[in-house]
Amino acid sequence: MKNLKIITMLFSLVTPGIASAQETESLVEKYQVEIVLGLAVVVCLAVLLAMFAMLVAMKTMLRMKLAADGVAEEEEKELIKTKEGEEGLGFWAKFWNRFNESVPVAKEETVATSHEYDGIRELDNRLPSWWLYGFYFTIFFGVAYLMHYHVLGTGMTQDEEYQQAMIEADQEVKLYLASLDNLIDENSVELATSNVDLAAGMAVYDANCAVCHAADGGGGVGPNFTDEYWIHGGDMKSIFTTIKYGVPAKGMISWETQLSPKKMQQVASYIYMMQGTTPADPKAPQGDIFERATTPADSTAVN
Ligand code: HEC
Repeated sequence: MKNLKIITMLFSLVTPGIASAQETESLVEKYQVEIVLGLAVVVCLAVLLAMFAMLVAMKTMLRMKLAADGVAEEEEKELIKTKEGEEGLGFWAKFWNRFNESVPVAKEETVATSHEYDGIRELDNRLPSWWLYGFYFTIFFGVAYLMHYHVLGTGMTQDEEYQQAMIEADQEVKLYLASLDNLIDENSVELATSNVDLAAGMAVYDANCAVCHAADGGGGVGPNFTDEYWIHGGDMKSIFTTIKYGVPAKGMISWETQLSPKKMQQVASYIYMMQGTTPADPKAPQGDIFERATTPADSTAVN
C-alpha cells in the first residue's frame, strides 16, 4: 500500500503535464457558460466591425463613382436630400416624410451603383430612419441585455427566477399551513406525533403546565396525566377542550388567550402521549377510567 502511494506521488511529480491538463479541464468545465458567452461577444464584435468596414468601403466607392461622373460633392449632398416641396406641410407630415425619407424614383440615378445584372440595377438608397434607428436600438438592446443578465449579473436569469419563484411558493405554502393551524379547534384537532410537534408541546408544557402537573406529568396541584383516569376525558378532543376553556372553578385556567391553536394541539399531544409512562412521584388517580380506542379516530398522526 505504502509503496503504491509513493509511486503515485513520484509519478505525479514527473508528469506535471497530466496534472495541469486535468486542471485546465476542470476550469473549462467550471466556466463553460462564461467561455461560450465570451466567444459569442467576440464574434458579434467582429461581425459589427466587418459590417462597419463594408459600409465605409461602399460609401467611398459611391463617392468615387459620383466624382467620376462629375458630380461635385455639394451637389451630391443636395441630390441625396429630398426635402423640397415641404413648405406648408404640418409638423406631423414633415415628421412622417423624414421618418420614411428615401430618394424618390425620379432621382434614383443619383444613388445608382454601377452594379447591373440582367437589367436589374442596384441602388444605394438610404435606409428609412424608422428602420435604421430600429436597427440601432436592437444593437443597443442586445448589448444592454447581455451585460445586464450575463456579464454584470444584475438581472435574474430564468434559472434564478425559477429558484426565486420556488422560494416564494414555499413561503406561501408555509403561510397557508400556518393559517390552517389557526383553524384547529376542539372539533378538528388531531394527535400530532411528529418529533417537531412533540418537542414544541414539551416546551409549552415545561414553561406553563409543569408547575401544577409536574414535569413528568405525575401531577401536583393538577391531576396525574400518566394514569388511565381522567376527570374531563382522555382523548385528544377532550384534552384540547380542557386546555382551551380550562376549569376555572377548580384552578385550571383557560389557555385560549395565551396559546395559539397549534400550540394547544402540540401540548395536548404531548400530554396524550404521557399516559402509561412512570412518573417519579405519581399523584393518586382522579376521575374515572377512560378507555381510549385502540386505533382512535382522533389520533391520526399529523406530520
Ligand atoms: C395553576 C395550576 C395549573 C396550571 C398552571 C395548569 N393546570 Fe391543568 N389543571 C389544574 C387543575 C387543578 C386541574 C383539575 C381540574 C378539575 O379538577 O376539574 C387541571 C386539569 C387539567 C387537565 C384535565 C385533566 C383530566 O383529568 O381531565 C388537563 C388536560 C390540563 N389540566 C392541562 C394543562 C395544561 C396543558 C397546562 C399548561 C398549558 C395546564 N394544565 C396548566 C391546574 C393547573
